[in-house]
Amino acid sequence: MPKPEMGAPDRQKMLDKLRASTTGLRVEYPLASGETARRIYLDSTASTLQLGIVRDVVGKYLPHYANTHSNAHFNAKLSSHELAWAHAMVLDFVGANAQTHGCFFVGSGTTGGINRVARTLARKWSHRDVVITTIMEHHSNDLPHRKNFAKVVHVPVKVTANGFGCADIGRIEKALREYRERVSYVAVTGVSNVTGIINPIYDIAELAHRYGALLVVDAAQMAAHVPIKMSNPEKPARELDILCLSGHKIYAPSSPGVVVTRLDLFREVEPDEVGGGMVDDVHLDRYLTTEKFPDREEAGTPNIVGAIALATVLCALKKIGMHYIDAQETRLINYAISKLTTIKDVVVYGETDPRNCQRAGAISINIRGLHHALTAAILNDYFNIAVRNACFCAHPYVREMIANDLGEQMEGLSNQELEALAELHRGMVRASFGLYNDAQDVDALVGALQQICARKEYYQSQYHKTESDDEYIHNTFQFDSRPIFSAHNEVTRWFEDD
Ligand SMILES: Cc1ncc(COP(=O)(O)O)c(C=O)c1O
Repeated sequence: MPKPEMGAPDRQKMLDKLRASTTGLRVEYPLASGETARRIYLDSTASTLQLGIVRDVVGKYLPHYANTHSNAHFNAKLSSHELAWAHAMVLDFVGANAQTHGCFFVGSGTTGGINRVARTLARKWSHRDVVITTIMEHHSNDLPHRKNFAKVVHVPVKVTANGFGCADIGRIEKALREYRERVSYVAVTGVSNVTGIINPIYDIAELAHRYGALLVVDAAQMAAHVPIKMSNPEKPARELDILCLSGHKIYAPSSPGVVVTRLDLFREVEPDEVGGGMVDDVHLDRYLTTEKFPDREEAGTPNIVGAIALATVLCALKKIGMHYIDAQETRLINYAISKLTTIKDVVVYGETDPRNCQRAGAISINIRGLHHALTAAILNDYFNIAVRNACFCAHPYVREMIANDLGEQMEGLSNQELEALAELHRGMVRASFGLYNDAQDVDALVGALQQICARKEYYQSQYHKTESDDEYIHNTFQFDSRPIFSAHNEVTRWFEDD
């Protein structure tokens, strides 16, 4: 008998358990006010916190840990089995058909993955020397293409009265029409790491395919928040060709990055990295690359523990259902936007109407008249709210949005005033969310911003700025991490404890 469909109460129970197990939800730090408070983590776009299930499952695996290349002994057999499961789990999570798609792990997150894709495809079809991307990309989905291709076209995003929206499909088509068979692929982020805006990746796939180009999706921010469906037998034109993601952005900080790809794309091209594990035979004057995938793309010993950690999270999220998680997170981010847009002195960047453009995971703001680094420092030092500030490795996008917002304010200003305004607005403050955040965290952020807006001069007077690195330092309060955690001290203590 088929298993009955899981209902919402079951999913909620599992999600609650997963949330409650988050490592570090209850850490406390001393504040500038002299109080000690619980840290509110709103920096998941940079790196998510780790879920307890990773710690528990990996802890059970570790006694059996061994190199997967050893083969003969029990530990190696078990490790090889689990690594194969990790590959299969990734495919399952992103809805990729294992007959047509495969995945391989890479060293350094999505950045490692996209670099590998760019190098490989640039060599595979040297006549296709153009990549089309958008201005909203993280540098990791821009610079690898610039380095490996003759031309990278940066297509603008849609702009409405409310601000910058998602990738402009009309402009992508214009670029595809202009460069035609020179285009190797369109590279687009699934979700912006600055605004959290979700791109219509399946529509872009269909468009790219119509012009004979591939679609490469940067899923660094998408994977943790939005369900993904790479394969679509009913509508193959809407399938995703290649996708890259990072484990540390989906609750598995020790994980490697992943490339999921159509298998044919990595066939008939020499693997970019060579070494042990990807060859069938080696002579002094030649070597024979294995046809086995993913072995041929995973030279050297893979990050086995990290891969199992990532697959553990993916398996847990899949059991709960990404649609279910997405629906909850969408409610939270819409709530956050609705609250933040009511604070008089706060500017929220990007399209704020969810009917025009849905978001996932991140919102970037500024307090008018306050440097982004100062706002972030105050949120941290006085309210124990962890956010990120500056340009989030997406300089062109951040600069264009800020310029767009400042447009009217800049009219009639002297050069000196313009410079002062530009200095204040060279970056943003980003609040970002994971499945462990809730409405109380949003309320805490909104309350803190309201207090900062109400007492700007007071907070400003508590800080001085470093000339060299745009950092605001509190005049009297200093955070010393060593009494809280120091690996060196822990090692010493470990030997002292009997
Ligand atoms: C949209 C996006 N793409 C790529 C990356 C790079 O990811 P990683 O640092 O894991 O390589 C990031 C990291 O913030 C990102 O947000």
